[in-house]
Amino acid sequence: MELLYEGKAKKLYRTNCPDEVLMEFKDDATAFNGKKKTQFQNKGAINKQLTCLLYRMLEERGIPSHFVRDVDEIRIIVRRVEIIPVEVVVRNWVAGSLAGRIGRPEGTPLSAPMVEFYYKKDELNDPLITTEHLRELNLATDGEVSVIRDMAMRINGFLGEFFEKVGIRLVDFKVEFGRLHSDRSRIILADEITPDTCRLWDIRTGRKLDKDRFRRDLGEVMESYSDVLGRVSHALSV
Ligand code: TMP
Repeated sequence: MELLYEGKAKKLYRTNCPDEVLMEFKDDATAFNGKKKTQFQNKGAINKQLTCLLYRMLEERGIPSHFVRDVDEIRIIVRRVEIIPVEVVVRNWVAGSLAGRIGRPEGTPLSAPMVEFYYKKDELNDPLITTEHLRELNLATDGEVSVIRDMAMRINGFLGEFFEKVGIRLVDFKVEFGRLHSDRSRIILADEITPDTCRLWDIRTGRKLDKDRFRRDLGEVMESYSDVLGRVSHALSV
């Protein structure tokens, strides 16, 4: 199979269909722009299952994603898209980089969800950018930015409500969007939604159930990812 792209956590392979690609979830974990690196047995399989379940749940609520079908333990077929090189972060509570940026402690509630854009560019360390920067760099049109912002907020509503039902607080998360290969005017949700790309705190205990366990050396990383998968699959009863 021809490898089309290899990222930090996933690989993409060509398929016989020009509008579809095979996405493989790796066990590799990186943080701080790849400076910290390891592997966790079963991470790829857990993240693949979570992405499938959450994309299906969102699809049912009218959020179009690149997910097509399940293939095996670590691979899925997704629609081919041209990824917009912008990490779209939605935050409900102060955590991570926002704490240092606005000088409020982690765990402070935000008065309203906020959407941020980060330029996906390893050499620049994925900087926070404004919509003017997006325009200057021709990363997306104003119309596309408005569609992306709107979809990100809707995803936040659906995901937040869903996680709350399983006792998890959706503190923040990152999503990516792409233009459909077969129709560039259509923007859909792409990439993954997993504990690698969300901050998830147990509502009762406050325990972190996401990649911060790896970033901050808190231990029990895969146990926490499995806990999230267990709750999500139970809620969707599969
Ligand atoms: P941050 O607080 O470090 O800016 O992260 C915000 C959210 O985005 C958090 O849920 C983790 C996620 N994220 C990624 O998925 N990939 C990244 O490269 C970074 C920096 C954050």
